[in-house]
Amino acid sequence: MDAQVFPVPEATAKNALVDDAKYQAMYKQSVEDPTAFWGEHGKRLDWIKPYTQVKDVSYDPHDVHIKWFHDGSLNVAANCLDRHLATRGDQVAIIWEGDDPNDDAKITYRDLYERVCKMANAMREMGVKKGDRVCIYLPMIPEAAVSMLACARIGAVHSIVFGGFSPDSLGSRIKDSECVMVITADEGLRGGRKVPLKTNADKALEDCPSVKNVIVVRRTGGAVPMVEGRDSYYHDVTANQPAECAPEEMNAEDPLFILYTSGSTGSPKGVLHTSGGYLVYASMTHEYVFDYKDGEIYWCTADVGWVTGHSYIVYGPLANGATSLMFEGIPNYPSVSRFWDVIDKHQVNIFYTAPTAIRSLMREGEEPVKKSSRKSLRILGSVGEPINPEAWMWYYNVVGEGRCPIVDTWWQTETGGILITPLPGATALKPGSATRPFFGVQPLLVDAEGNELSGATEGNLCIADSWPGQMRTVYGDHERFVQTYFTTYKGYYFTGDGCRRDEDGYYWITGRVDDVINVSGHRMGTAEIESALVAHAKVAEAAVVGYPHDIKGQGIYAYVTLVAGEEPTDALRKELVGWVRTEIGPIASPDVIQWAPGLPKTRSGKIMRRILRKIAENDFGALGDTSTLADPSVVDDLIENRGA
Ligand code: WT7
Repeated sequence: MDAQVFPVPEATAKNALVDDAKYQAMYKQSVEDPTAFWGEHGKRLDWIKPYTQVKDVSYDPHDVHIKWFHDGSLNVAANCLDRHLATRGDQVAIIWEGDDPNDDAKITYRDLYERVCKMANAMREMGVKKGDRVCIYLPMIPEAAVSMLACARIGAVHSIVFGGFSPDSLGSRIKDSECVMVITADEGLRGGRKVPLKTNADKALEDCPSVKNVIVVRRTGGAVPMVEGRDSYYHDVTANQPAECAPEEMNAEDPLFILYTSGSTGSPKGVLHTSGGYLVYASMTHEYVFDYKDGEIYWCTADVGWVTGHSYIVYGPLANGATSLMFEGIPNYPSVSRFWDVIDKHQVNIFYTAPTAIRSLMREGEEPVKKSSRKSLRILGSVGEPINPEAWMWYYNVVGEGRCPIVDTWWQTETGGILITPLPGATALKPGSATRPFFGVQPLLVDAEGNELSGATEGNLCIADSWPGQMRTVYGDHERFVQTYFTTYKGYYFTGDGCRRDEDGYYWITGRVDDVINVSGHRMGTAEIESALVAHAKVAEAAVVGYPHDIKGQGIYAYVTLVAGEEPTDALRKELVGWVRTEIGPIASPDVIQWAPGLPKTRSGKIMRRILRKIAENDFGALGDTSTLADPSVVDDLIENRGA
């Protein structure tokens, strides 16, 4: 079952930043002498006070701490803007492509600099200080990047919440980090449909006393209520501000942002990233992984509400002085050719998207792709979930016409940047494999007991040592950080993913080994969906698992036990789906709800998810040992009524 291998095209190797020999040499140095390696590459940024210390890391569960460049100081916004003004002030920093194909804009580095300074001044005037948390709940409009960079400029810590999250999800994130300000828009626009962002924010804010000010960007012009003394419009507060704003001097380890992500238990965790190491890593991976060359047009289709948007739409590309395309819309509006039309329209050279988007467009056939030229394309990228070889081949042959390397990039919100990936000029590709580690990254596979496995094998994916982009803590809960990542396998960072390593040392991510599911590249804790379901008055108990889904990768399968006396009707099923949408957001909508008179439990009352997963996967032959079940007949009922 050897996979087909796609060698590096000679032309790519010749012009690339690194070829295989250089990759090998750099990788060797990066793991043998990380201090020398990162000490050198940290210089890619402009430091206010240069660092003399490079790395201070401990994974010892009694004393987990991660510090990089920790006696240096810098400002992240100044690195993304100010230092480019002299050389590329008139170069386009952001190409904005609106939801409507007739709506677009080009923003130069000087433009962006001025907008950021004005917003930063407005925020300072409202009392936002270094260290304060600011929640950003915006659509994909330039003001999202402006707001992020304005926070970075004044040392405020942003916490972006994806516009698809409900008022409840927004509110709990605002409260967890006690944000003092919310930046939102009247409404968002996606696929021609309006998203009521300000209305959602108002609902969330009914119970968030820490928030003193709300800044509202006018996107659609829709009428929204403004709360006197709390709410103001972006265009009003920025209008008369000076276009200069002194950047705050930040220690390398001062926080840059918080981003909430789901785990296997409890509420979403506030993943905290800091300034120096994060930017070194985001910018370096952006340059090397995409082989980015000055003047190229680079497009990452993610939303800034996810970490991909943070690192690879805003911080990495702008630190590198790149031209980054920001897209407000969706892949199938106004037609399923939209991605390819935008590539031609803006002459995109590097295109980075998610397998779920590829699969949904693949279903439409080759015709909508072939209507476009795509001659500008040079590199393709994939992120968010394993890409199945069939989708990979279609992406490679149809979209890239067999001439563009695909970088399948594995990473996580926690890792800040890409950890396992091909480099276009260095790595022969195998469809479905994220291939080899980036510089400084030491992956290892362990068995359930934590023994390191060698050679070609399969196990749980851990990382042996730190890299500069690694998260530093869970906001407000360092113990949870330690428990989640550093106690399962002593001395290693545990990723939560399963993985296979082949005879060439290539890594193949097989998916999560914990109770986290990946739906269309969006990560969701099954526990969160379960607690939303049991919060409904008619639900007694719920268990949620993932199951294979053609387009989404994984779908959401919920087993629901109703309160005694409640009727399991289709109407109630619809009501529960709607309930989860309003509790968490549309991305958490269950695909299947199965009524379960009982759930398979051990005699000590623990739900046996392994069995529920098998039933959802339609894999009854492999139920495994059911002898420890308190009531084995429960399983027969679930099998009989599967998916009903
Ligand atoms: C989880 C992290 C990385 C930014 C977007 C998602 C899965 C991510 C890949 C890939 C196989 C992948 C993993 C990981 N994942 N990229 N190229 N191949 N799996 O960030 O929401 O933090 O999710 O996404 O399971 O643990 P995230």
